[in-house]
Amino acid sequence: MKEAPISGDVQHVVKRVFIKTYGCQMNAYDSARVIKLLEPLGFLPAVEPDHADVIIYNTCYIRDKAAEKVYSELGKIRQMKIARERAGGTMIVAVGGCVAQAEGAEILHRAPFVDLVYGPQSYHRLPELIGRALRKGGAGIIETNFPIESKFDYLPETSATDGPTAFLTVQEGCDKFCSFCVVPYTRGAEYSRPVAQVLSEARHAFEAGVREITLLGQNVNAYHAEGPDGKDWGLGRLIRELAELAGLDRIRYTTSHPADVDDELIAAHRDVPQLMPFLHLPVQSGADRILRAMNRRHTADVYRRIADRLRAAQPDFALSSDFIVGFPGEREEDFLATLNLVEEIGFAQAFSFKYSQRPGTPAASAEGQVPESVKSHRLDILQRLLKRQQRDFNEACVGKTLSVLLEKRGRHDGQLVGRSPYLQSVHVAATDQAGEIVPVLILGASANSLSGSLAKGCRV
Ligand code: 5AD
Ligand code: SF4
Repeated sequence: MKEAPISGDVQHVVKRVFIKTYGCQMNAYDSARVIKLLEPLGFLPAVEPDHADVIIYNTCYIRDKAAEKVYSELGKIRQMKIARERAGGTMIVAVGGCVAQAEGAEILHRAPFVDLVYGPQSYHRLPELIGRALRKGGAGIIETNFPIESKFDYLPETSATDGPTAFLTVQEGCDKFCSFCVVPYTRGAEYSRPVAQVLSEARHAFEAGVREITLLGQNVNAYHAEGPDGKDWGLGRLIRELAELAGLDRIRYTTSHPADVDDELIAAHRDVPQLMPFLHLPVQSGADRILRAMNRRHTADVYRRIADRLRAAQPDFALSSDFIVGFPGEREEDFLATLNLVEEIGFAQAFSFKYSQRPGTPAASAEGQVPESVKSHRLDILQRLLKRQQRDFNEACVGKTLSVLLEKRGRHDGQLVGRSPYLQSVHVAATDQAGEIVPVLILGASANSLSGSLAKGCRV
């Protein structure tokens, strides 16, 4: 790791940092990095904003609602900052992440008390930027360039959580340009981290007691970088290498694009026992007309074939997905095609959204925008179906023995909570095995979680 530029001011004035994270796991990973990055400068994390000297919002721009949340949150913080300054103190308010990247100066316009706006590719410079904000006092700083240097060269190599699970960003940005999506504009072009850097960060995580790693990327299965053998490594090859690291029990990756699911990745599901038999693979729609308009670069049949191949490669494979309803031009028959696809595939869980017009994306100005009431109606129907499938999937687990990575104490005494291979929350009658993977006989299922007791044999 190269040394991040440090400002002397920071060390003496600021002591507590509060960071609120919105959106995806990549943001969660970034926030954890920011905490680690500021630690050597004397910052400790604050649980509440009113105890903090620096307040950071790590924001999400994917849908309108996510972006607006930030402004309402900023409205609340304004009073706190005024009160602090009246009492002679200092409070630095920083807005990072994808809203910062997309809106830049607009944030300072709508919330002039914000001190610092920085994009997702600049956060390794936070120590210096916070120092500048302290000196500047008043005029906001905007840092939303896509720097030539990779921020990863400047970030501390630590696992992104303190528990037995960790995120590891291996890829960032996206070149797919789905016509509804802001990510290619906010996160920039596709970039894969060097293999050696990924392996080194993974090793650090295992040394810190991590048992499960989730490889992250906006388009994670587009990962490709030169391996130690001089050849181009894809995600499947990288997963094989990670599986060789002693102590790693579980590997996941998210989020994937159907067009980048290659033979090597499917073979990894067949051959690598640590690779969980569960994949979040967004399809967005079941209608080819709409998939084309979305610029998705795959058809519904391509998705069906991938699902079949994954199920053939690994027993008990389960899928999760994302759906958008009410995309411009979506007719009733297109929506029915989506429902048909859902019925055919059968999802263990899924996320579904009403189409949200995002500034600067092609679909925002497309003809045939669907009325809000139609979107709501379709979303309601789709979510009922997906919920039913999730409940059916959970209920089908009852009587099975699943491996569970116990993560923390449950709400009740004598109970630990962990995750199944399918990312279901599992409540287990156990007390002292936190951090371990144990076989659990599933005894109960609800819409959102499972419960069970420690078992002798383990099936998955
Ligand atoms: N409107 C609604 N949903 C969107 N998503 C991305 N952009 C939009 C948008 N403009 C959804 C997609 C994606 C998930 C992360 O968010 O389903 O897979
Ligand atoms: Fe957005 Fe994913 Fe499409 Fe990239 S592949 S543009 S991140 S939806």
